[in-house]
Amino acid sequence: MSTDRKVAVITGASQGIGAALADAYLERNYRVVAVSRSIQPSNNPDVLTIAGDIGDPATGRRAIDEALARFGRVDTLVNNAGIFVAVPFTQYTADQYAQVLSTNVNGFFFITQAAIEAMEKQGSGHVVSITTTLVDHPTAKVPSVLASLSKGGVAAASKSLAIEYATRGIRVNAVSPGIIKTPLHPVDTHEFLSALHPVGRMGDIEDVVGAVLYLENAPFVTGETLHVDGGQIAGF
Ligand SMILES: NC(=O)c1ccc[n+]([C@@H]2O[C@H](COP(=O)([O-])OP(=O)(O)OC[C@H]3O[C@@H](n4cnc5c(N)ncnc54)[C@H](OP(=O)(O)O)[C@@H]3O)[C@@H](O)[C@H]2O)c1
Repeated sequence: MSTDRKVAVITGASQGIGAALADAYLERNYRVVAVSRSIQPSNNPDVLTIAGDIGDPATGRRAIDEALARFGRVDTLVNNAGIFVAVPFTQYTADQYAQVLSTNVNGFFFITQAAIEAMEKQGSGHVVSITTTLVDHPTAKVPSVLASLSKGGVAAASKSLAIEYATRGIRVNAVSPGIIKTPLHPVDTHEFLSALHPVGRMGDIEDVVGAVLYLENAPFVTGETLHVDGGQIAGF
């Protein structure tokens, strides 16, 4: 198989934002490696699916190794797999803590390590991770300590990696959404969630996809956290 086409590895690609990102990269002539626990094999020869828990260090390594074996390169990694558990601080269970940290932090760390290793050999690459504006703009209406602990770590680590690899052709960015209409949010919560944004609505999946694609095509942008949150970051 030729290796002239770019390759994007996208975690959490079975539904929601990740599935839309996979489609968007395919439309832009990328080959796509789609990772999630429940993802099914694809008939599309430009798509390789990797079924696994992203919190397991072996899953990230396997995704990158198989991307290289099948498509010969890794140009972009989108760390999109993530979970959100909104519980008052003292009520988080040890299991919830372990699950959130495993998915959001291990799930960022190990696949990014494998991807950057490959990108460094190529001399180019882009890592973009999906965080949340709750990190910078918590609200009393949504308890979110575990989101801040885990996604806040990812946001900070993205800046650190951007600096560590700035001279080696690898950019590292983050997209920080407000609340986006995905299967994560039952329809009967939409009115309440819309009111948490200065613009008075939830975001759409395409708003996040557009931000990732902007960063993809912005060679002078690294270490950036791009907020896609209907103005939440400006204050409310
Ligand atoms: N929707 C929002 O309002 C919002 C706001 C801010 C940030 N975000 C962030 O945006 C990202 C995508 O959110 P979304 O709304 O599209 O979520 P979603 O609809 O719940 O989809 C989450 C995806 O992650 C995968 N996933 C979950 N746990 C995994 C694990 N342990 N290993 C591998 N894959 C796993 C799921 O697939 P499987 O079940 O098949 O594993 C699914 O494909 C997340 O990081 C989320 O925190 C979302």
